[in-house]
Formats: sequence, structure tokens, C-alpha cells
Amino acid sequence: KNIVILISGRGSNMQAIVDAQIAGANICAVIANRSDAAGLAWAAERGIATAVLDHKHYAGREDFDAALISLIDGYTPDLIVLAGFMRILTAEFVDRYAGRLLNIHPSLLPAYTGLHTHERALADGVKITGCTVHFVTAELDHGPIIVQAALAVLDDDTVASLSARMLEQEHLIYPQAVRWFVEDRLTLVNGRVHIDCPA
Ligand code: GRF
Repeated sequence: KNIVILISGRGSNMQAIVDAQIAGANICAVIANRSDAAGLAWAAERGIATAVLDHKHYAGREDFDAALISLIDGYTPDLIVLAGFMRILTAEFVDRYAGRLLNIHPSLLPAYTGLHTHERALADGVKITGCTVHFVTAELDHGPIIVQAALAVLDDDTVASLSARMLEQEHLIYPQAVRWFVEDRLTLVNGRVHIDCPA
């Protein structure tokens, strides 16, 4: 399966997916909307094609997403993976890749959609938080949930300590979800996720 990964920053989830060496996964390209995204150099060093599409060069969201679609489609991907891609996508973009567009979010959705999830979880005093891999739909952070990992919030946790522990879990569940997709074990039935997991 051809996979395009979109990043905006360090790309540690992208690295985890690449490093998982999933049989049948062909990472065609890593695309960033910022030229300073650190993950780009990491991917390029490993011989993965990289591209930058700077949203600031486009008049608006529609123009940027249209350009992004043509760049992505040049790689004929089966799957598009958002890995810390800090852009809200238009309905046109999301609909085009329906059922083959994944995202990871650092909360136990449907709790804490949007930004600053760790700050908000700590401020609320929740004892359990986690991360979620989901299919992307037009409503931000609301698509069908594929896999989640939970972790305990410790009394002395800070945003830094919590996000570091969370990332370890993200790096487990995101490659897992991609592996299920590549192995054709991940399907959407009436808008709900079905995972075929033979023992
Ligand atoms: C992760 O916390 C992810 O859940 C969120 O953005 C962050 C990206 O980190 N969507 P990285 O760029 O993958 O290291």
C-alpha cells in the first residue's frame, strides 16, 4: 500500500511508522506545510521523498488544500497519514480521502478535541488520559475511532512529562493502526470501525 505522511514538526509519529517497517507499506513521501519541520530531514536521510507546501503561499484554505491534493495524488496513495499535521482540512480534502485518511490525537476522544489537550486534562485534574487514532471526517477530531491507549495522570505530572509518556503510547498505536490498514484488516462498516484480528 502506498502511504503519504503529512507532518508539521518533529515527526516522531512519522518516524515510528517508518521504523515499524510494516510489510506491504510503501512510504512514498513525507509532506510538510513548513520548511523547518524537523521530520523532513529525518525522512530525507532515509531516502524517503520529501516535499514542502507552505500554506502561507496560498490565498486561503481552499487554494492550499487544492494544491495539497494535487501534490498528494502524484504519489497515488492508498492511505494518507496525518502525523502532527497542524492544519484544519477542508471538507473537500477530507471527503476525497474518506476511509483512507488517519490522524492521531493526544486525548481519549471524544474528550479534549482541539489544541492544548494536556494542559486542559491537567487543569481538570483527570486521572486517566490517553491518545486516539481515528479516521478523519469533516468535523475536527470526531471521526470513527480505530485504537486508543490510556495512561494514568500522575500527581506531579507536567505538560512535558505527560506528553513524553503519551508519545511512547502514540508510537505504539499509530504503527499498529497503519499495519491493520495495510493488512486490509481495518474497515468502516456503517461509519464504525471494524478490525479483523484473527488470534
Ligand atoms: C502528537 O502529540 C500528536 O498526537 C499530535 O501532534 C503531536 C505530533 O508529534 N497530533 P510528532 O510531530 O509526531 O512528534
